[in-house]
Amino acid sequence: MEAKELLKELSLEEKAMLTVGKNFWYFESAKDLDGALVTDGPHGIRKQKVIGENMGSGESVEATCFPPACLSASSWDRSALFKEGSAIAEEALSEGVNVVLGPGCNIKRSPLCGRNFEYFSEDPLLAGEMAQSWINGVQSMGVGTSLKHFACNSQERMRFISNSVVDERALNEIYLRQFEIAVKKSQPWTLMCSYNMINGKYSSDNRWLLTDKLRSEWGFEGLVVTDWGAMNDRVEGIKAGLDVEMPGPNRSNVDAVINAVKEGTLAEEDLDKVVLRILELNMKAAKNRKTVSYDRKKHHEIARDIASNSFVLLKNDGLLPLDKSKKYAVIGEFARSPRYQGSGSSFINSNYVDNAYDELAARGFDVEFEPGYLIGNDADCSLVQRAVSLAGKKDAVIAFIGLTEEMESEGFDRTTLSLPEEHDRLIREILKVNSNVIVVLYGGSPMLLPWKDDVSSILLGYLPGDAAGEATADVLSGSVNPSGKLAETFPLSLSDNPSYGNYSTEEKNVLYAESILVGYRYYDYMHKDVLFPFGHGLSYTDFEYGDMDISFDDERKEAKITLSIRNTGPYDGSEVIEVYVEKLDSKIFRSVRELKGFEKVFLKKGEEKKVRISLDRSAFEYYSVPLGRFDIEDGKYRIYSASSSRDLRAFRDITVTGNRNPEVMDWKIGDDFSSLFKGGRLPLIAQRGEISLNTSVSEILENPKARKMFKPLIDAYLTPFEGKTDGMSRMMLSMAMDMPLRAVAVMTGAIRQDELEKLIKSF
Ligand code: BGC
Repeated sequence: MEAKELLKELSLEEKAMLTVGKNFWYFESAKDLDGALVTDGPHGIRKQKVIGENMGSGESVEATCFPPACLSASSWDRSALFKEGSAIAEEALSEGVNVVLGPGCNIKRSPLCGRNFEYFSEDPLLAGEMAQSWINGVQSMGVGTSLKHFACNSQERMRFISNSVVDERALNEIYLRQFEIAVKKSQPWTLMCSYNMINGKYSSDNRWLLTDKLRSEWGFEGLVVTDWGAMNDRVEGIKAGLDVEMPGPNRSNVDAVINAVKEGTLAEEDLDKVVLRILELNMKAAKNRKTVSYDRKKHHEIARDIASNSFVLLKNDGLLPLDKSKKYAVIGEFARSPRYQGSGSSFINSNYVDNAYDELAARGFDVEFEPGYLIGNDADCSLVQRAVSLAGKKDAVIAFIGLTEEMESEGFDRTTLSLPEEHDRLIREILKVNSNVIVVLYGGSPMLLPWKDDVSSILLGYLPGDAAGEATADVLSGSVNPSGKLAETFPLSLSDNPSYGNYSTEEKNVLYAESILVGYRYYDYMHKDVLFPFGHGLSYTDFEYGDMDISFDDERKEAKITLSIRNTGPYDGSEVIEVYVEKLDSKIFRSVRELKGFEKVFLKKGEEKKVRISLDRSAFEYYSVPLGRFDIEDGKYRIYSASSSRDLRAFRDITVTGNRNPEVMDWKIGDDFSSLFKGGRLPLIAQRGEISLNTSVSEILENPKARKMFKPLIDAYLTPFEGKTDGMSRMMLSMAMDMPLRAVAVMTGAIRQDELEKLIKSF
């Protein structure tokens, strides 16, 4: 039966029921059509063994932990993302999962975001391309995805209650752009709205976001689901285009929908539109259900392959690849127990994790190990001494250090870019006895490396997934030539970051006051030195870039770039060719140049290839606020081929016919941010409000009377996690403080939302 036919058979009650999940992970069913099963995501399957246990935090089935987005994006390889997606889809099918909740596509506005490891990039083109490739991979197997978190959820602190204040141009050019690319190129089956507000309006009932932009402008055909506990107003959400509230059940909201239709405040046609999309999704899920088994070993190999081809060689003074005739001290507990994934809803239950020390030994390298530190523990002098003593006896040291689990997770942001103090100290001590030091870094986001100039080589493994050890050994040994490039800038200090002072503070209003100057756009504009620039990544071989040819179709605004590239070094290897576009003599406030295309090519040693990269009109566009749309400024554009954002290799100028009189925009960073908003007024919300459904747990705890009244509800949430130290429980606890009462009610099921509302009124 067609979804439209089924819709006609449903009662108002049945329709309203569909707009809320059946439980934590299932959509609601209708007649004999089952609801879809959705699970996290994004770099593997987190399907709970017992559905509905402990607010979605219970143990999950065994699955492959593929490289999280921080690493996979560093591949700059669309086919790698596609491959990861289709392997994850196989695991999903084998577990009866219909929709995988990913990819996470938020822009890395600050390196402090606790969840950056789940996101791709500071650049919307790269993030959008990685996302669409992953989505196409998953969906090619008949499994759906959920592009998340739509939108402007670039910080974890107060994510349930914060208000992202973003000007119209930054919204369109930076924070929505990667979603637009992914939607247009891959039509995700579903999209997940974010918890936060954008310019004073919650994403979950924001019609401008969910209907005007997403569906009318971009042509999204799928279903919109809330992030878990993000539903602000269920009836308003239906009017805005929000289809399913998760998790369920939430009888109070079902009743609210029924009453709104009966009272005439919600048109039944609006409800029908939402219900039709839910039925269509459930039917798609039913049609694609099949029993599939997968080869766990093969998937581990895929994870390994993606990881080793994504590692970023940040520095190499010739100590890499390793030399079988040398003796190496392998130092750092991470060499034996790698940090390979982040904490929170993306946590994969994998018991198939290998480590670099064993892998190097198995390949016949002369290696001896000392832990140097214990993960999460304070510095232990005797461990340092033993490590230093070993370091002094060997030709070279391979030191494994990085960010620990306590330092980055969903649910909170980092407060510093520094590594654990004992890791930095360990490197300093080792350098006193041996100057041949190779550092291997694990961790989900940029770190400060105060000893950078003193060590010989630095290899960034980010979080490599469960083949961490093999992938690391592949690259160290040279059996894989590193070809990853940074999808984000490593700044020299935290205060260099453009969001500094406006990020993860006590303020509910989060001012995106750097506007469009995010990441390298800002560092280039300000001529600031960085630790490692966006797009940077070395290889064991060398690549020579030839001249570029550009054929430009001015009518269609399409540029076809052809360039030759030659591998002039001693190894086979892959190179990512980056294309940046700069508007010469622009009248408009802009970053210096922006990434507009890229391609990864493999070249045997001595080989030369012609590479073709096409740019469409978006390569020349900027968002014009007065026109309310993207526009092209008339004039000369410089197109660069580059090996990183600061390693430009060749350029050509072209003339593009466009708007000769764009509005002269001379707003500069540091100018009054409010002048970028209508009427010069920032769309702010009250910092601390009345007690309402949207009051957070921390606000309640500040008020003795409220604390007493809502204690049973808050306890219902906190009790299952208290005293537990695993990553998931820590995240649930830290998340609790920012959670509004309405979400606590739904998550725990301890009280109906309408009962809670009555309680609040009686306060
Ligand atoms: C996260 C989502 C996740 C959902 C379900 C939320 O807290 O923000 O990314 O998919 O939980 O686990």
